[in-house]
Amino acid sequence: MNETDFGIMIAELERRTEGIASITANLANAAAIIFNSMADVNWAGFYLMENGRLVLGPFQGKPAVVNIEVGNGVCGTAVAENRIQRVEDVHACCNHIACDLASNSEIVIPIYKDGVIFGVLDIDSPVTGRFSDADQQGLESFCRILEKVL
Ligand code: SME
Repeated sequence: MNETDFGIMIAELERRTEGIASITANLANAAAIIFNSMADVNWAGFYLMENGRLVLGPFQGKPAVVNIEVGNGVCGTAVAENRIQRVEDVHACCNHIACDLASNSEIVIPIYKDGVIFGVLDIDSPVTGRFSDADQQGLESFCRILEKVL
């Protein structure tokens, strides 16, 4: 598998979001950058906190479940535990909400605005164990940059 160049992804994110006040536009471009830059990814996008639950935000991939309660699924668990979830095999994970049957592994990264949880970045792959330590670190850096334009 080709390693992802997170430096290029972050540079494109900064270029695309510079001077753009629309959170929706910034999240949409962030999802598109991830989806088009990372190999073996079938879904990349955001769930955002709305009235105490996660609601589907901008994404690339197949249509997905709209509402996820905190504590449910991999996304809701990331919020409940306030930490990254990296699932090597979603079929071995009891608390996984299947959106695309092609998905076999998943990473979910909480994102924050003014120190408060704003939502999560969710990325799915058809490859079991797709996401490495380097991917996790690169995506964390990507999210920290994205948080500046939320
Ligand atoms: N698998 C996620 C649900 C969202 S889809 O992957 C896009 C979860 O378990 O929270």
